[in-house]
Amino acid sequence: HKKIAIAVDGPAGAGKSSISKVVANTLGYLYIDTGAMYRAVTWAVLDQDLNPDDQGQVESILPSLELTMEPSDASCKVFIKGRDVTGLIRQQAINDNVSKIASYKAVREYLVERQQAMAQVGGVILDGRDIGSVVLPDAELKIYLTASVEARAKRRWLEVKGTDNEQPLVEIQESVQNRDEMDKNRKESPLVCVEDAIVVDSSNLTFEETVAHILTLVQETI
Ligand code: C5P
Repeated sequence: HKKIAIAVDGPAGAGKSSISKVVANTLGYLYIDTGAMYRAVTWAVLDQDLNPDDQGQVESILPSLELTMEPSDASCKVFIKGRDVTGLIRQQAINDNVSKIASYKAVREYLVERQQAMAQVGGVILDGRDIGSVVLPDAELKIYLTASVEARAKRRWLEVKGTDNEQPLVEIQESVQNRDEMDKNRKESPLVCVEDAIVVDSSNLTFEETVAHILTLVQETI
């Protein structure tokens, strides 16, 4: 079988990362979580007490950021100046600021260049918002993974229940909706469902059913 590039895009909380990870493992592909890269930049901005609203200030840290990724079959780790920040980028403060930072042109250029370089090995699955449209426009398989906002918020709520990141369902739904709103309406590479993407709506599918469906799409492509 030839090794292809798979692009997975879609709104927040659709399960892109967890599903892509399993698909990558099953196929022996490299998985790259591009959202983690935008989150890591956001973490660095907040860690350095910079103002996320100040585009110039945010963009000025890019040359010294030293953002690196360590994709393995188990997960996809992200480092800032050698520090593993993977466990620090799922907090609400990051959720609240990441879409603003992801709207800045120089931030996107910096990350897209890295994503494209990492994807060159072939046999890759990248998930994000602009993979099929900008990062890998020639990907052999493009999936737009979505679900109703209620289903997405509910899954997120179950995931964080009983953890340090626990939050009321209404707050999660609001946060998810705000992020979608910003990601779809920004000027620089907004979230879109490209013409050649296959829409997978997982509202009424289990995790396993969604994985199986995507694996079928891969089999049909290779
Ligand atoms: O995928 P995840 O929800 O972790 O992404 C966090 C945020 O990063 C998104 O809400 C979006 O603003 C930004 N992002 C992006 N382009 C990507 C991946 C993520 O703009 N390819």
